[in-house]
Amino acid sequence: MRWMHLIPIILVIQGLQAQTPAKTLNELKAFYAANCVKCHGPDGSGQTHEGKKLGGFDFTDAAKTAKESDADLIRTIRKGLFFGIKMPSFQDRLTEDDIQLLVKEILRKAEKGKVIAP
Ligand code: HEC
Repeated sequence: MRWMHLIPIILVIQGLQAQTPAKTLNELKAFYAANCVKCHGPDGSGQTHEGKKLGGFDFTDAAKTAKESDADLIRTIRKGLFFGIKMPSFQDRLTEDDIQLLVKEILRKAEKGKVIAP
């Protein structure tokens, strides 16, 4: 059975993935509260001191966010903005799955005045 030598490789790959388990929705909300609130505000509307200064984007403004595709939002979270000066990059701390969940289930569902928290 020539394919048998692949088994250790598969086990190693699975082991590596297990080191970065996907975050749950509540963990991502906590991550937002810890890392994004400063600029984007507790509810995502960006009405913080820092958010206003930076021209913070309002996630609770459905008409405005509708113009941005998921891919655009995901790319911004991954790469940050203006070399991390306007907004830091989060690709070292969030997996691609984490970022997708964050965009689809948290940012897209942000409501004005409703605090994003676990
Ligand atoms: C240091 C301030 C800062 C922090 C911290 C920050 N952001 Fe941002 N973010 C910005 C600014 C400024 C913009 C640009 C807003 C604009 O002009 O469109 C932005 C834009 C974005 C956009 C794209 C909106 C668009 O214009 O399409 C997303 C998505 C986003 N931020 C998500 C996040 C998430 C999620 C976190 C936390 C994990 C985070 N940001 C943390 C400042 C910040």
